[in-house]
Amino acid sequence: MEPSTYTQGIVQEACRRFGNDAHRMMDILWEVQDRLGCIDGQAMECIAAETGSYRVEVEGVVTFYAFFATTPQGQFIIRICEDIIDRHAGVEEIRAAFEKTLGIAVGQTTNDGLFSLHLTPCIGMCDQAPAVLINDLVVTGLTPGKVSKIVSTLKKSRNLNDIKPQSKGGLFKPGEGNNQHPLIRSMVKNNIRLAGEILLNTYSPEAGLAGALQQTPAEVVEMILASGLRGRGGAGFSTGRKWQMAAATEAEERYVICNADEGEPGTFKDRVLLTEKADLLFEGMTIAAYAVGARHGILYLRGEYRYLRPYLEHCLEERRKKGLLGANIGKTVGGQYDGEFDIRIQIGAGAYICGEESSLISSCEGRRGEPKNRPPYPVQSGYLGYPTVVNNVETLCNVPRILEKGISWFRSIGTSESAGTKLHSVSGDCSRPGIYELPMGCTVQELLDLAGAKDSACVQVGGASGDMIGRTEFGRRLCFEDLPTAGAFMSFTQTRNILEIVDYYMHFFIEESCGYCTPCRVGNVFMKKGLEKIIQGQGEPSDLEYLKDLGKTIIETSRCGLGHTSPKPILTSMKHFPLVYAALLKERPDGLQAGFNIQHALDESRIIAKRRSLIYDPDYSKSEKAD
Ligand SMILES: Cc1cc2nc3c(=O)[nH]c(=O)nc-3n(C[C@H](O)[C@H](O)[C@H](O)COP(=O)(O)O)c2cc1C
Repeated sequence: MEPSTYTQGIVQEACRRFGNDAHRMMDILWEVQDRLGCIDGQAMECIAAETGSYRVEVEGVVTFYAFFATTPQGQFIIRICEDIIDRHAGVEEIRAAFEKTLGIAVGQTTNDGLFSLHLTPCIGMCDQAPAVLINDLVVTGLTPGKVSKIVSTLKKSRNLNDIKPQSKGGLFKPGEGNNQHPLIRSMVKNNIRLAGEILLNTYSPEAGLAGALQQTPAEVVEMILASGLRGRGGAGFSTGRKWQMAAATEAEERYVICNADEGEPGTFKDRVLLTEKADLLFEGMTIAAYAVGARHGILYLRGEYRYLRPYLEHCLEERRKKGLLGANIGKTVGGQYDGEFDIRIQIGAGAYICGEESSLISSCEGRRGEPKNRPPYPVQSGYLGYPTVVNNVETLCNVPRILEKGISWFRSIGTSESAGTKLHSVSGDCSRPGIYELPMGCTVQELLDLAGAKDSACVQVGGASGDMIGRTEFGRRLCFEDLPTAGAFMSFTQTRNILEIVDYYMHFFIEESCGYCTPCRVGNVFMKKGLEKIIQGQGEPSDLEYLKDLGKTIIETSRCGLGHTSPKPILTSMKHFPLVYAALLKERPDGLQAGFNIQHALDESRIIAKRRSLIYDPDYSKSEKAD
């Protein structure tokens, strides 16, 4: 069917705004969806024609991202955060309240076309769960009562602006930070509980940039290298070394990308830095660009944080006005440098895997967020094939501070192998959830005490892909040489069901796997099935061995970091809570230890793929032979 003139008009306008460039596919899709309510077949045809792509390519991108829809959605798309912290905070009642008030189930749209209801993994609000997204608006601290109020308000006014913020007399109480900025229209509190010396402290704006521009780019790289700064996004790679490699790669262009995808369940510290310290971040990106010789920067902002975009665009615009971005960036801070640098914001669309740096680059290029093989590494061939530095928000916020205060100051904080501070996003069973900036090397127990987590029996350090540890490990230190973390810290008392947490995170990884490589796509399903068998009381001791072996295989053979860490909820909980597993095992009366039945586990996928087992299906074998 020919696209309607209306669809054509909207698509053409959207594509034109982005130069009909297929690399800007994500922006085009967001704009089309915002205006048409979804990206249907007709819209995809038009987008393909306008950007010189094939329809299948456009469809491939649309269907990759959870936040893009191919069928009409309600005017208000409600995404209920179903993360484990939200579950513990009562999200089931919230879900039931939405379903009852709207008269629809999750996955459906109301007949009047006003509301669609969906579940979504962690939206970065664990410190104020239960939380939902309504389009771009974040609503936190929900109760069933508030749900009916929200729904009736929206039914009446059909205007999202009529959802009132929770505190009286303004968006937030004084002292809750930059949330007061009129451009941040959401109910998100920053909950900064402890501001450390480096990131959440006051600082001299642009002193770091001025200091950098007085040195040669190579000297700046050298300084970051000598500071011992390591990436805060998870892997802990030396930032200076990364910059050095990007600078050393011969190329006409280089790129600096800030990773603000923050999809790791339980993590929300980048959200707070983006809200409180946006200028510090942009200054850090500018210094990185100067050091490696980049003219272009991208801030990859997760779709869940779209509410921050107007504010962040405003900060960028202010920097342009001040001459801190654009041409001649050295002038304003009194330097000789007349180079140029600017930053654009790329909005993600609900895909955890896009936090992985090569997937993130694919997404910035307008493609499915699938990881790339390495080598080449992004510093050699990244965005559009150019050398690209990808750094986490927190990493980049450290940079101006190092330039401002010096290497020795930075190294004097933290430990010998982990210089500086770390932001921890604390949530779960504790009385003071929120953000804590502590020197690297503080113990788990110290952080639990600060957060008022009195009876913690288990801590998930580093999110779903991190380690689940018990009381005997609370003396361990949060730093690269002991217990590394990207920042999530979820505390659970012994009233919580550990295996329910583990099961949810396996569900999370299965949903979020990009599906490209078999170990991750299939292996995680088998891991979950093995776990479920144990939870149902059907497990044998050999199942534990099976899970260990399978987990090891997935870690060793997967293509990217998602598969390298996805078995960890099971493996680390088995290691630290062996009795929880042992208590559920069933002793077979005949003493036999039947293993996990892989054929049985495959049944579901066979049915979906309309394939039957040749080996184990006697009827099928017979009929094959008869033929
Ligand atoms: C599945 C997956 C998700 C990731 N998510 C993030 C993320 O949300 N933010 C982030 O900075 N790094 C994330 N990373 C790590 C990035 O790949 C990369 O190491 C990081 O952005 C580099 O920045 P850094 O050196 O400053 O830490 C993720 C990695 C994997 C495998």
